Amino acid sequence: MPIEERIDDHFILRTIRDEKDITNFADFLTSKLNIVEGMTANCLMRFHPRASKDNFLVVEDAVSGRIVSTSGIIPWEMKFDEVRLNCVQVELILTDPEYRNKGLVRHQMQKLYSMAEQQRYDLVFIWGIPYYYRQFGYSYCIDGLVHYSLPSWRVDGEEEDAGCALREACTDDIPLLVELYDHLAASLDICLTRESKHWEYLLNSAKFHIYIVEKGNRSEAVGYLMQITDKKMIHILENSFTDFTAGMAVLRLFKKSYEEMRINWPKSTVLAQLAESLGGTLEKDTQWLFRILNLPALMEKLSPVFNKRLQSSKHRRMCGDFVLNLFHNGYKLRIREGKLDGVEEVGFVDTLMGAEGGDLNIQQDAFIRLLLGQNDIDELYEYWPDLFFKPESRALISVLFPRMDAYLYTPYHYYGPEIYKLEEKYHKYYF
Ligand SMILES: CC(C)(COP(=O)(O)OP(=O)(O)OC[C@H]1O[C@@H](n2cnc3c(N)ncnc32)[C@H](O)[C@@H]1OP(=O)(O)O)[C@@H](O)C(=O)NCCC(=O)NCCS
Repeated sequence: MPIEERIDDHFILRTIRDEKDITNFADFLTSKLNIVEGMTANCLMRFHPRASKDNFLVVEDAVSGRIVSTSGIIPWEMKFDEVRLNCVQVELILTDPEYRNKGLVRHQMQKLYSMAEQQRYDLVFIWGIPYYYRQFGYSYCIDGLVHYSLPSWRVDGEEEDAGCALREACTDDIPLLVELYDHLAASLDICLTRESKHWEYLLNSAKFHIYIVEKGNRSEAVGYLMQITDKKMIHILENSFTDFTAGMAVLRLFKKSYEEMRINWPKSTVLAQLAESLGGTLEKDTQWLFRILNLPALMEKLSPVFNKRLQSSKHRRMCGDFVLNLFHNGYKLRIREGKLDGVEEVGFVDTLMGAEGGDLNIQQDAFIRLLLGQNDIDELYEYWPDLFFKPESRALISVLFPRMDAYLYTPYHYYGPEIYKLEEKYHKYYF
């Protein structure tokens, strides 16, 4: 639904309406940040397969009509074990330096949540400015930018025995790319799904550098990689191989041209495994931030996963209630015959001396990490020592919330030729 409303006497908040708005939005990001952010905004608004104009907001100065702040949401589908969640990523957050600290982003955040709630999304996530988004109810969880840095001299063997070749991917390769991405996703409990249309966006609009790896004279396709290069360094943003030896062959191929190879997680991929075993250094760069929009609805959507966990445990016949207390609010999980039979909000749950408390009493930041399988309760206790649970519920907590293998990569940034003209200060964000 299009939105247009006054924030106060000075500002108007509205969704983008037309081509002119898209151009002005992109120009704003180009002039206040850099051309790649502008091109990215342009790509997202015009070509992203799940984008809609109503998902991008601008704040205008009511007098001059100039854009002074922007934001937007990008829809994604997340695989959570066997369930598919509808998520949105908040992006393109920027306020003109002259208009900062006037609450313009805070206002847009509230609007974006109500938009996401209305559209019945399950989860909101965001990446960015350290600490900043915590104040809007987000909690850190799940790595999304982890790489091994591998000096090329650690790769032995010569290019001649490489035995494989790379060729640029094109639209005809999309079915192959879908298949190879599904192969990668199969090794993860939590990741984003990627459909054909998204590959088309990456190849034709966002100008990603995607290569198909072919093995031997038979030109058998055994993998793909997304890459970006900077002088003597190659950064593999994503890879998926069906053949381990081809991974080693690719590293030998790159050894000739580059002094350093950076290879992104997921750690289950062939190139990441090779980089680790060849002595690459692991480098992590913060985590995603998540916000749950409607906890009972999310838990109920995840019930096939909880049911599978209960059914394969000693709780398969359990009939009872489990009270999850997030301190500000509690939720009763009704379990019948080892199946989740409903989740109900129960309001404030008292944990004072003499009160019963919940089965699990845990604050929201820690709970998101538990739910998404980042940490178990013993690990969480080290950082949130006010977490506590009924001793008799401990086994059930472990059954409901096991550790999960998770990695999120949301490729949408523009990687066209303009990226090579960026000022040095922006390199660490794109290379
Ligand atoms: C960070 C930024 C988005 C804030 O925009 P803004 O419109 O000034 O934000 P708001 O006024 O709504 O700020 C909300 C709150 O955050 C606080 N805040 C503002 N900038 C902050 C910062 N950099 N770090 C922590 N808190 C900050 C404000 O004081 C305010 O707190 P309050 O509500 O308790 O008073 C803006 O400074 C900006 O655009 N920075 C550059 C962003 C960028 O580099 N983006 C690259 C792509 S991620």
